[in-house]
Amino acid sequence: MNDRIRRTLVALLIATFAAPVLFGQAPASLSVDLGRSKAPVSPTLYGLMTEEINYSYDGGLYAESIRNRTFRSDWTGILNWFLIEKGTSSAKVDVDSKEGPSTALTTSAKLEVTRADANSPAGLLNEGYWGIAVRPHTRYTGSFYAKSNSDGALPVKVALVADQSGQVMASASVTVTGTAWKEYKFEMQSGNAPASAENHFELTIDKAATLWLQLVSLFPPTYHDRPNGNRVDIMEKLAAMHPSFLRFPGGNYLEGGRIETRFDWKKMIGPLVDRPTHPTTWSYHSSDGMGLLEYLQWCEDLRMEPLLGVYAGYSLGGQVVKPGPDLEPYVQEALDEIEYVTGGTGTKWGAMRARDGHPAPFKLRYVEVGNEDSFDRAKTYDGRFAQFFKAIKTKYPDLQVIATMPVNGITPDLVDDHYYHREQRAFELARRYDNADRKGPKIFVGEWATREGTPTPNFGSALGDAAFMTGLERNSDLVVMAAYAPLFVNVNPGGMQWSTDLIGYDALSSYGSPAYHAQVMFSSCLGDHTPESSLSGASEKVFYSVTATAKSKVCMKLVNAASTAQAVTISLKGLGDGTRKATLDTLKASTTWATNTIAAPDRIVPVRSTVNVKAERLEHVLPAYSIQVLEINLQ
Ligand code: AHR
Repeated sequence: MNDRIRRTLVALLIATFAAPVLFGQAPASLSVDLGRSKAPVSPTLYGLMTEEINYSYDGGLYAESIRNRTFRSDWTGILNWFLIEKGTSSAKVDVDSKEGPSTALTTSAKLEVTRADANSPAGLLNEGYWGIAVRPHTRYTGSFYAKSNSDGALPVKVALVADQSGQVMASASVTVTGTAWKEYKFEMQSGNAPASAENHFELTIDKAATLWLQLVSLFPPTYHDRPNGNRVDIMEKLAAMHPSFLRFPGGNYLEGGRIETRFDWKKMIGPLVDRPTHPTTWSYHSSDGMGLLEYLQWCEDLRMEPLLGVYAGYSLGGQVVKPGPDLEPYVQEALDEIEYVTGGTGTKWGAMRARDGHPAPFKLRYVEVGNEDSFDRAKTYDGRFAQFFKAIKTKYPDLQVIATMPVNGITPDLVDDHYYHREQRAFELARRYDNADRKGPKIFVGEWATREGTPTPNFGSALGDAAFMTGLERNSDLVVMAAYAPLFVNVNPGGMQWSTDLIGYDALSSYGSPAYHAQVMFSSCLGDHTPESSLSGASEKVFYSVTATAKSKVCMKLVNAASTAQAVTISLKGLGDGTRKATLDTLKASTTWATNTIAAPDRIVPVRSTVNVKAERLEHVLPAYSIQVLEINLQ
């Protein structure tokens, strides 16, 4: 054997045994050239999509604790409210259809107490949204509208009461005076008892009287202490997703089942007493406490930009408004809505926003016309979209207008693509945009999810999602925005209308599904461009993307959806000699069916470790069923 051959053989042996060999397989090879940029990555790639579905706001993000605060009823009586007759008291309750505090709320609950005293109070009980959370040493703020049948003072006691023990967890007294409608406010403080959702609300009086009630409301502390605000735990989960935008108000919720039940934004601004409430497309009624301004404040709180969906003349039941003069009022409604969001206080709707407590205009760049208009059997979207597009561009030339499907005759700025699929299809869709046409409109993936597992996605879904997101990142020059849907589900029986949803909760606590953690990991590290890269020798179920920001960071996403580990030699040309420490976040499970639940919220959570990248090279093993994010700091 001559010297040359011996040196080659030695080099081969070193190369073979220095790299991890799994199951007799040579490692795959992932080569990244940091010096060669391929495409830009959109800074708005990751955002949120939201609507009233699965008790997303009422019984979810919107922190109101009282369910059916406006006393709607059916043949069984007033929904979610129950009569209290303690001791020897005697009372009845009914809806009074002629008495209400406003033109929006024209009815009320009429509580007629014929006998009551201090030991035998009577009144009403509210069950909350599958209970009411009470935490130790916490302040609750409440209010109601009331009038009584006499000019004198009528003391009213309000309390949070433990379901099982009857223990009063917090209470306050309010004096109702007179026969005219007034708003009453109260505060109450809980004591030392442990946190629980097994509580209800009681409102009682201890003498004979007739009391009319409307808009009974109770809030725990909210995120950023906003009045009429959002739940802290859920907002914190959203903040961890680093969302850049919020698409609202839907989804089917925007369209309504019928035109009258669309998201009629003018009925969802201003004081709550001026909001009539409305039925949703998702088989329950909305309190409309989450109105247009509340959405915008939610954006403000999480530093997201609003992506406003405007009603476009198509409702889910099939009703369509013909393009032309019939559609004009709806176009005007959208222009007014944009003015409410962006107008100065000198404009009609900007002044209304100031009246509602927010003089400063909001920044708005994106407006979406309708939702999933491919379902319109009359095929009127080309005409409807053109009418909205022209009107919006004439008044607001800088706005980017999004179509909900490809349109003829006019080129939208963006088109909204939706994907709901199983895990296997997600793997195919991961490559959906790799060779897509770059000459047309940009793409907004306004709704997407891998749908396996219920009420929240299991680890197989997380793998499908992660694979899909690698495709979004590789093609983010084209796909400039994307949002998972649906975002929320109340996990109590009856809380769910859509069977796979990112974040689950009950009245007390919330949890992130494995798919939620995949979202957090992906959005937490994103560069501003994709460097040239290639992968060879890996299993079909390995997916990756690399993004980087010069002199700042490299973010590598590695997904192994196979049941066996995959060795990979990663080379990072341009990283420079020497050793760099990188953080590696790993989310993994033993089966695709493994998941988190409200009772076991932390079974599958990311685990952080540190790895050394030596001389532009890393010998790495992707564990079976794993999602990893490798972040290399370049500073
Ligand atoms: O995300 C649930 C529903 O799916 C949305 O409301 C609708 O747009 C889509 O069909």
